[in-house]
Amino acid sequence: MKRTHSATELTVDHAGQEVVLNGWVDTRRDHGGLIFIDLRDRSGIIQIVFSPEVGEEAFHLAEQVRSEYVIAVRGEVRRRPKDTENPNLKTGLIEVYARQMEVLNPAKTPPFYIEDGIDVDETLRLRYRYLDLRRPEMRDCLLLRHRVVQTMRSFLDQRGFIEIETPILTKSSPEGARDYLVPSRIHPGEFYALPQSPQIFKQILMVAGMEKYFQIARCFRDEDLRADRQPEFTQLDMEMSFVDEEDVYALVEDLMAVLFKEGIGLDIPTPFPRITYDEAMLKYGSDKPDMRFGLEIIDLTELVKDVEFKVFSSAVHSGGVVRAINAKGCAVFSRREIDELTQIAIDNGAKGMAWIIVTENELRSPITKFFSEEQMNRVLQALDAKPGDLLLFSADSPETVARVLGTIRLELGKRLKLIDESVFSFVWVTEFPLLEWDEEEKRYVAVHHMFTSPRAEDIPHLEENPLQARSRAYDLILNGTEIGGGSIRIHRRDWQEKMFRLVGLSPEEAYDKFGYMLDAFEYGTPPHGGIAFGVDRLVMIMAGRSSIRDVIAFPKTQSASCLLTQAPSPVSPKQLRELSLRVREK
Ligand code: AMO
Ligand code: AMP
Repeated sequence: MKRTHSATELTVDHAGQEVVLNGWVDTRRDHGGLIFIDLRDRSGIIQIVFSPEVGEEAFHLAEQVRSEYVIAVRGEVRRRPKDTENPNLKTGLIEVYARQMEVLNPAKTPPFYIEDGIDVDETLRLRYRYLDLRRPEMRDCLLLRHRVVQTMRSFLDQRGFIEIETPILTKSSPEGARDYLVPSRIHPGEFYALPQSPQIFKQILMVAGMEKYFQIARCFRDEDLRADRQPEFTQLDMEMSFVDEEDVYALVEDLMAVLFKEGIGLDIPTPFPRITYDEAMLKYGSDKPDMRFGLEIIDLTELVKDVEFKVFSSAVHSGGVVRAINAKGCAVFSRREIDELTQIAIDNGAKGMAWIIVTENELRSPITKFFSEEQMNRVLQALDAKPGDLLLFSADSPETVARVLGTIRLELGKRLKLIDESVFSFVWVTEFPLLEWDEEEKRYVAVHHMFTSPRAEDIPHLEENPLQARSRAYDLILNGTEIGGGSIRIHRRDWQEKMFRLVGLSPEEAYDKFGYMLDAFEYGTPPHGGIAFGVDRLVMIMAGRSSIRDVIAFPKTQSASCLLTQAPSPVSPKQLRELSLRVREK
């Protein structure tokens, strides 16, 4: 029986027509004289009615089928009687009376229900991913992802971008995350690396005169995994010649507007707001601020530098800062709740978290005794403190205070339910520092990557004051998640060499690792810049999910394994021999 329609294609207009449907048995209800089967295909669900009068053989077959059997049904579309209409179903006004049925394949009982909102361990879902993906909510995630990627392609095509593939087997390079390595059989003892991103290739494509490039690119990074990090993930990668930051922002804002319209039917306002890195760190304690709610961090460093409370004054005198959050209305928090918040602060590197409860008549706090009335009044004023508020303080290095209060802010946002989940809040973060100091490696590392251009006005100061230099990097943040990042690049060999030097690469190392790029830069390199988006993260947020695993067909676990295929796995001695490899016994 050859399928004529998908389930949800059928409407009341088909009433009276004979159709053939193929799909899975979603549910079966036996009402004695009548059997109802909800048939599911990719498009959705339709009710099939089996009655001995209409199809005797089909009726008896229907007595035997069970959930997830694959069936073909020939029958007549009929309008349902008024009292049996189902408004929750797209096909709820109709049903198909089966004349004939064929079982295309029986099925074992699945280990979990094929329906939305199931409460089963994710490992079971990943092991039986083909069943998991039959669930409507999972199918919808993949459909949305498809729509988003198709829209990216057509939008960029219309804007004159060309899609170019770059190698998956490539050269290992220092910096960034750890590489995934692939041993070479032909060159014993040598390795390819899987790309962490197509960064250098896309820049070389600019040297090659391609002007506008994009790729839906798979990237590989061997790093610690989290809900929004996978060892392999997908970027929408873009690069353009002869552009500055404003060109990139404008293009991306148009792209996002089209993606949200086509993907989830939403009009998002553009242009997006912008915030500098410094301001984001100060007010939100994060370089990916979630701006769906307030609770901004307030700096009190100047106000408290001379107070008697040593925790504050000595922090300031040793170059640190003192900042606070006014948790509006949280004076009702119990000691236990305050202790929980303090523990979160300590887990993030704080030595403690001073607090003040503001009531109508008094301030309750372990620290007020160290303040003169005037000092306290100025602090209260700076924090706009009102009766009912809880003030939380952190004193430490600027980095620690940002991390501590940034985390506390997000925690309060959650606890106080300040986040409107229906809002999509985009923000550009700009003016990142070019370099940061890596305490472990005792050297500077690039904040974005080594190909990012410093701002022209900062180039003269690069040598004497590298940490002061700002870069031309930008991130796009959506609801507190970094969905994209990029920069205007260095396009001159001498500047690039200087950058390599700053991050501690000797000229020999730099040439060994990146010589091909340095050479290319001498053959007429246009000024260029670009950006890359985490497609998984973007689709995750559009789909309202909390893990990127939900929008990846076959994701890996937190420990980087694939539960479906059981990768990674040992290989045969013969394979190892061919690769000139020996595995050390544990
Ligand atoms: P970056 O490293 O910031 O930039 O990556 C760009 C975007 O990719 C997403 N992303 C990830 N998604 C899932 N799992 C991961 N492990 C993961 N790592 C990153 C994030 C991030 O914003 N070549 C540069 C871009 C450029 O300069 O043009 C790059 O790769 O959403
Ligand atoms: P102590 O004098 O150590 O008992 O601390 C008094 C209060 O200050 C307690 O509520 C501590 O949690 C808090 N506190 C300690 N260190 C810090 C810090 N670095 N920043 C903010 N508060 C702190």
